[in-house]
Amino acid sequence: MPLVARPGLDRIQPYQPGQKPIGGGGPGVKLSANESALGPSPKAMAAYADAGGVIERYPDANAVRIRQALADRYGLKVENILMGIGSDELLSALVRTYAGAGDEVLYPTATFPMYRIYALSTGADIVQAPDTDYRADVDALLAAVTERTKVVIVANPNNPTGTYLTSDEMERLRAGLRDDILLIIDAAYAEYVSKADYDAGIALVNATDNTVMTRTFSKVHGMASLRIGWCYAHSDIVSLVGRIRSPFNVSSAGQAAGIAALEDKTHEDAVIAHTAKWHSIASQRLTGLGLEITGTEGNFVCVGFPDEEGKRAKDADAFLRKSDIITRSMAGFGLPKHLRVTIGTDKEMETCLDAIEEFVRAW
Ligand SMILES: Cc1ncc(COP(=O)(O)O)c(C=O)c1O
Repeated sequence: MPLVARPGLDRIQPYQPGQKPIGGGGPGVKLSANESALGPSPKAMAAYADAGGVIERYPDANAVRIRQALADRYGLKVENILMGIGSDELLSALVRTYAGAGDEVLYPTATFPMYRIYALSTGADIVQAPDTDYRADVDALLAAVTERTKVVIVANPNNPTGTYLTSDEMERLRAGLRDDILLIIDAAYAEYVSKADYDAGIALVNATDNTVMTRTFSKVHGMASLRIGWCYAHSDIVSLVGRIRSPFNVSSAGQAAGIAALEDKTHEDAVIAHTAKWHSIASQRLTGLGLEITGTEGNFVCVGFPDEEGKRAKDADAFLRKSDIITRSMAGFGLPKHLRVTIGTDKEMETCLDAIEEFVRAW
């Protein structure tokens, strides 16, 4: 008898990461993975280098110091925080904890493709509620709930559209969901949002026992390579997910760097200011060219191109690639007419925006 995998895995297409510049003639601009333009805090780098001297010991399995640092920073209780190998590990573990074969995992249409992979890998089915104007639609999500729904995931703000649900809208979503449905608020880009009507999810987690907020050190803290994420949830959820995570999931050097990053608010503020400046410049320049920008939040802009010969997103992608400028095709995210451009350094942004302008002016 041949070896046979669990049924259903053939429904999964592997995740396509953002591509890298190929080098050679062009400047080599990578704006495809929503990494930080300014990189990590120098203090985090120093802490990483210090801790990197001792690699023969297992890390603190309970990651007590970094959880305490997060608790202090955000006014949370340590026992409600769980660390992960990026927020990816926690999203996967949360879905596996609450959904399985025969269940449904529900999320909006144009969003982070890993939700699909995590849901299908548990044997659950996926249901996607249509967005309205590139935003998650609370009514559409509620209308898509069935008796099989076990988990609802909303990226807030959303990758790739940069739109967000207000705290009132998120509360309305939670209130409309049955109590036995887990609501995951994926707040990977929360730090970039300064809108008064936005909450990353802390208030809703505090008010309920079936909501979880996931966060990451990969974006504003510029530590994507170290793979550090965390979630905040009721202690019952933390306890269950804690049983199925990998035991030493965050390295000692990663924990040390994360603590130093949290302490360096000056660097974090500089990253946020740089991102806001270029988000605004990019949005103005691109809309000035007649292109559509889908949202206002995050360290990226999602740009829509006309559905006409030679003007499509794929044509823009090919044009940019000729200069070794790599943005992200949004076809795999459910938006085939769009490219997502991560906010890069001043030079990278000027190079990329000039190239898009050259592409459009030639129409
Ligand atoms: C919406 C969203 N959630 C989660 C992640 C995963 O981040 P991490 O690096 O913490 O695994 C990403 C990464 O791009 C993301 O865009």
